[in-house]
Amino acid sequence: MSNQPFSPINLGSLTLKNRFVRSATWDGMSFNDGTFSPAQVKLYQHLSVGGAGLLTTGYIAVTPPGRRNLEQNLLCEPRHQQSLKKLVEVVKREDVALLAQLVHCGGLAKSQTTGQPTVAPSANLEPLFEETPKALSVTEIKDLTIKFAEAAARAREAGCDGVQIHAAHGYLISQFLSPFSNQRDDDYGGNLENRGRFLIAVYEKVREYTGDDFIITIKINGSDYFDNGLECAESLEITRQLAERGLVGVEVSGGSQISKPLTPIPQKIEAGVNEVPFRNEILSFVESLTIPVAAVGGIRSFATAEELIAQGISLISLCRPLIREPDLINHWQKGHYEPSDCNSCNRCFIPAFKGKGIKCLKK
Ligand SMILES: Cc1cc2nc3c(=O)[nH]c(=O)nc-3n(C[C@H](O)[C@H](O)[C@H](O)COP(=O)(O)O)c2cc1C
Ligand code: SF4
Repeated sequence: MSNQPFSPINLGSLTLKNRFVRSATWDGMSFNDGTFSPAQVKLYQHLSVGGAGLLTTGYIAVTPPGRRNLEQNLLCEPRHQQSLKKLVEVVKREDVALLAQLVHCGGLAKSQTTGQPTVAPSANLEPLFEETPKALSVTEIKDLTIKFAEAAARAREAGCDGVQIHAAHGYLISQFLSPFSNQRDDDYGGNLENRGRFLIAVYEKVREYTGDDFIITIKINGSDYFDNGLECAESLEITRQLAERGLVGVEVSGGSQISKPLTPIPQKIEAGVNEVPFRNEILSFVESLTIPVAAVGGIRSFATAEELIAQGISLISLCRPLIREPDLINHWQKGHYEPSDCNSCNRCFIPAFKGKGIKCLKK
């Protein structure tokens, strides 16, 4: 085994101690008002000593109607910022970087939760959405770019190293990118330039509000993996345009609620057998871009992490393996190379949907 996964790497102005990232993971433990709870601070304390060089928070909504459920954090008021600061403080005691992931869930938000109508690029129906959203006006779109930027400025004030803009998995930005969910006939729909306009505007506004040295990355689908969805060449082109504007890194994921069997949280992954289902798209990003590319989805073994790095992938993002074993990276660093014990069953969502937070249920 090589030491390559434990070599430092630069992400913009930030030096990460190694290549392992805890990918954004909703933990279902926020207070209902969107503030971070002591249980979340404790979780990040554990994660910060688990060995990964970079932690990404779970998806934080930039505005209340952008929430999917009440156990999801918000970052639009001073109290949200204050509570995030406590979480940052425990992470910063270790040599670990922290990105706040920012999202608007768009048509995947729930009006029952938010008390406000859901919004999306277009008012199209199922199967993607559970309820018919309202199509955003141009004024509302522009206002949302400011909400992302204000949240990013709050993340910076709270001490985060940067933000990850969530442009994947069928949430609002992804809904704009995908021809399936974006049926607009104005400047924000139609060709790729128009479908990408919202993401680029969000990026530019976030940059304007946070300054040149702030770390801004995106998480994007290499492919939506459904008919009339975003394709790899398009996703690459938008990311290339963002990189020209100063984006420092991209995490490549894939799929959405309707992309079965290849969903963003793929099941039935076996170490050494079918790891990294989005590998082809991720490698296309590596070939075409000069910014660091993070691979996410179904990475379960150290050998695969090594192989991906040898293929030019800069960062290895893990989610469920770190729910199962928050200190997995430490084990690997000590030379205990057993693969993750996570069997990708997704049962960790069960307690969270009952308001009890994400928890591994595997015996
Ligand atoms: C419990 C749970 C919560 C998740 N929350 C988020 C999230 O907030 N933002 C996000 O981009 N992805 C989220 N994901 C997706 C993961 O970041 C990751 O892309 C996916 O689980 C595949 O990686 P894995 O095979 O290492 O789990 C979540 C996944 C799980 C299992
Ligand atoms: S419940 Fe299943 S998917 Fe979730 S962490 Fe445990 S083994 Fe992995």
